Amino acid sequence: MSIQFNILTLFPDMFPGSLGQSLSGKALERRDWSYEAINIRDFAQGVHKNVDDTPYGGGAGMVMRADLIEKATLSIEKPGRKIYLSPRGTPLTQALVKELASTPALTLLCGRYEGVDQRVLDAQDFEEVSIGDYVLSGGEPAALILMDACIRLLPGVMGNETTPDEESFSNGLLEYPHYTRPDEWAAADGNVHKVPEILKSGDHAKIKAWREEEALKITKKRRPDLLK
Ligand code: ADE
Repeated sequence: MSIQFNILTLFPDMFPGSLGQSLSGKALERRDWSYEAINIRDFAQGVHKNVDDTPYGGGAGMVMRADLIEKATLSIEKPGRKIYLSPRGTPLTQALVKELASTPALTLLCGRYEGVDQRVLDAQDFEEVSIGDYVLSGGEPAALILMDACIRLLPGVMGNETTPDEESFSNGLLEYPHYTRPDEWAAADGNVHKVPEILKSGDHAKIKAWREEEALKITKKRRPDLLK
């Protein structure tokens, strides 16, 4: 199973960015995933190659043109699901990531300025997805985050480094805390911090129960919304 990301952007050099490093970088070399960053400006004409214009109705900023985004979208051979990254979108959750990671191709539209002309989103059936309740300067970092979350789920990408059933959100809870050697650690302030005894007991049933309890505690405290 592999995945092809088609990225529509005014800043193609932002890709693969951080995804060229570490495990996702190795997976890219193995062609577990691939990408093409398509420069929307390449579809513009004239000396100025304008990609945006002022908004109808007035207001601040510029709006990316529908015609150029349509041309760029239609140039993609296998677009798969088409996603516009936007703070207005439906929230990206681990469940949605799982769905997206199991598709062979995705097209990710990255907006800049005030956004893109609504008509091309409607005409080309873009779904809108948000990575969180805050506003970025453009869709590119959001696309990189969506891609990262998908890539790490591809078979073989994480090797032994993940236990997908236990990590945060996979069971609807935040993850329990982790510890490694030494079992007694003296911090710079002189305080000695010990590893919880139960984790050294070798009693796997008790350890499992302790971890479940910790996961529930931290979820109640930080993300009570997840328990509803
Ligand atoms: N573009 C700007 N802000 C964004 C967000 N929060 N999620 C997705 N795309 C965005």
